[in-house]
Amino acid sequence: MDLFIVTGGSKGLGEQVCLQALEQGHQVLNLSRSRPTFKSAKSAQFKHMTADFSRGLSTIKKVEIVLENLDLSSFRRIHLINNAALINPVGSLADLNPDDINTHLVTNLISPVLLSQVCARLATEEKKPLTIFNIGSGAAFRPISGWSMYCSSKAGLKMFTENTALDLETSKNKKIKIYHFSPGVLDTQMQQTIRSFKKKDFPDVASFKKLKTDHQLRSPADVAALVVGFCLQPQKYKMQSSLISVQDLEKKGR
Ligand SMILES: NC(=O)c1ccc[n+]([C@@H]2O[C@H](COP(=O)([O-])OP(=O)(O)OC[C@H]3O[C@@H](n4cnc5c(N)ncnc54)[C@H](OP(=O)(O)O)[C@@H]3O)[C@@H](O)[C@H]2O)c1
Repeated sequence: MDLFIVTGGSKGLGEQVCLQALEQGHQVLNLSRSRPTFKSAKSAQFKHMTADFSRGLSTIKKVEIVLENLDLSSFRRIHLINNAALINPVGSLADLNPDDINTHLVTNLISPVLLSQVCARLATEEKKPLTIFNIGSGAAFRPISGWSMYCSSKAGLKMFTENTALDLETSKNKKIKIYHFSPGVLDTQMQQTIRSFKKKDFPDVASFKKLKTDHQLRSPADVAALVVGFCLQPQKYKMQSSLISVQDLEKKGR
C-alpha cells in the first residue's frame, strides 16, 4: 500500500485525487481547512488533518509532527500531491490588498515548497521512494492580464520543480521524483470564482464564461484518475521532463 498526502482534498481536483487513491486501495492523508464530506472519508484508509496553508511555516511544523508520528515504514511509496491553491487576488498591482498578496504567495508557493522539503527529508530517512506532484497551471508559462499573483506563484512552483529535479539528477537521487503538472481548465469552484471576476480586474473573463457554456471544462474526476495513475505507474509514461501536462498523460496513458 502507498501513502498519498493530498493538500486541498476537501473539494475540486484534490477531492477526486483522494477518492481515486482510496478506490485503488491506498492510504490517504488529506490536509485542508475544511473536512471532506465524501462517503469514504469515514474509512480507516482516510485521515484528515485540518491545515491552513496561508499560515506557512507554523502549519507545516504541525503537519511535520503528524507525519513523524505516522508509521511510514509500512508504506511501499509516498506521493505528495501539492494541490491546494487559490486564485485571488486579481487586478492591477496598486489595487491589490497586501494581506491578500501575502496569503496568496504563502498558500500557493511557500507552503508547497516547505511541505516538499519535509516529505523529502522523511522519505530519505525512511528510505522510501517519494513522488512530489505539484499541481501547477498553464498560467506558470505565460502572463495573464490581472493574474500577476497566480501566474507568479505557479511560475515559482514550476521553477522550484525544475530546479529540484535538476538537483536530484545531479546527486543521482533516484528515490525522489518531482513533477509540475498543468491540469487544463477544470470544472471546479476555482473556475466558478474566475467566472465571477469583474472585467476591470480580469479582462479575459468572457472567454472563461464561454468555456463553461461550451462545455470545454475537464472533469476533475477524469484528471484525478490520470494523476493517480501516473503516480502509481510513472514508468508507463516514459516522461523525459519534470514538466507534464494533462495532454501528455491523456496521450501517453492510452
Ligand atoms: N480549476 C482549474 O481550472 C485549474 C486550472 C489549472 C490549475 N488548477 C490548479 O489545480 C489545483 C486544484 O484546483 P481546484 O480547481 O480543484 O480548486 P478548488 O476547487 O478551489 O479547491 C481548492 C482546494 O484547495 C484548498 N485550499 C485553498 N486554500 C487553502 C488553505 N489556505 N489551506 C489549506 N487548503 C486550502 C481548499 O480546501 P479548504 O477550502 O477546505 O481549505 C480546496 O480543497 C490548484 O492548484 C489550482 O491552481 C486549477
